[in-house]
Amino acid sequence: MKLSKIVAAAAIALASSAAFSQTVKIGFITSYSGLNGNLGPYMERAVRLYMKQHEKELPPGVKIELLTRDDTGPNPDKAKQLAQELIVRDKVDLLAGVIFTPNALAIAPLTTEAKVPFVIMNAGTSVITTRSPYIIRASFTLWQASYPLGQWAAKKFRTAYTLVSDFGPGHDSEEAFIKGFTEGGGKMLGSVRVPLQNPDWAAYMQRVKDAKPDVLKIFIPAGKTATAVMKNFSDLGLGAAGIKLIGPGDITTDEELPNMGEVALGVLTVHHYSAAAERPANKAFVAAWKKEYGANETPNFLSAGSWDGMDMIFQAIKAQKGKLDPDRTIEILKAYRNPNSPRGPISIDPETRDIVQNEYLREVRRVGGQLANVELETVGTAVKDPWKELKKK
Ligand code: PHB
Repeated sequence: MKLSKIVAAAAIALASSAAFSQTVKIGFITSYSGLNGNLGPYMERAVRLYMKQHEKELPPGVKIELLTRDDTGPNPDKAKQLAQELIVRDKVDLLAGVIFTPNALAIAPLTTEAKVPFVIMNAGTSVITTRSPYIIRASFTLWQASYPLGQWAAKKFRTAYTLVSDFGPGHDSEEAFIKGFTEGGGKMLGSVRVPLQNPDWAAYMQRVKDAKPDVLKIFIPAGKTATAVMKNFSDLGLGAAGIKLIGPGDITTDEELPNMGEVALGVLTVHHYSAAAERPANKAFVAAWKKEYGANETPNFLSAGSWDGMDMIFQAIKAQKGKLDPDRTIEILKAYRNPNSPRGPISIDPETRDIVQNEYLREVRRVGGQLANVELETVGTAVKDPWKELKKK
């Protein structure tokens, strides 16, 4: 063959391989340091496990590049800077992840400006999805768990006190619980908001103990904070004084149960995900997790949100053969549904771009020698974010 022919053939081969190779870049922001910085890996591991299991379903030539970044905990300035760099310098097709509401709110306007779809895998304050048409939430809202929790609690208890971390999800959880509880005939004895970082637990718990409510409803961010709360509740004698501890599932987050120990036994929560759930899709998820990361490792609700978020992203990639158009991506994700997520049937509400899911009442029990959030009943089926539903009326 003549040299010119070889060069021409090589050029054609190169051009066609370029046409068939498409890299989707995902900017993944979570917390690997700072407050509850141990939670980041629960999200990243879910994303990587999903990719490993499903990579073969991607259209030929399509690859995913995951760019992971540490926002260092609740730190909106850092989160915004990272998102900006990922969008402008790295030219990501999508943003994903984010544990903390203030960080998600700081990123939101950038996603509108740059038209970059943002799949939220944790942050749960209701208002977040209203801040950009490019946000899809795969996780939950605090209203989804705390409103049915209040309705349920009103049937069991006469008086209640709430204690929440003083930031977005805490405010939502407080408002939602009080609405559900008082509408059901319950009486509130008081509400306290505590600093997000290092509150003086003894002082706040004493205030609750003195008020003698039947039940104390708490929201604090999942992770190490949940264990600190559990220990203080017990050490300061609230349980011994006959006060029942309840909350959304953040207070008994699956990965911390071994660190909490006995004091967590009997705590009742409402949430959308438990690692102990008996659904076949969840059993498969937990088994795959243990196989990949070790027999003593357990996914938590942040893992479930990240797993399902990745399933959403895969749908958008597959439908567009790896060439993502932001508006088309959002249209595809608005129609997302999965009857068989580890947490049960889920979908995206096309009107709000928020997740629709079941809520389960659970109790911490000992199962096979280990503490577990055992699902007792489904207290809400296909629950849409109640905050947005109520605002419509
Ligand atoms: C949030 O900041 O939205 C957040 C953080 C931790 C949680 C739940 C919500 O456990």
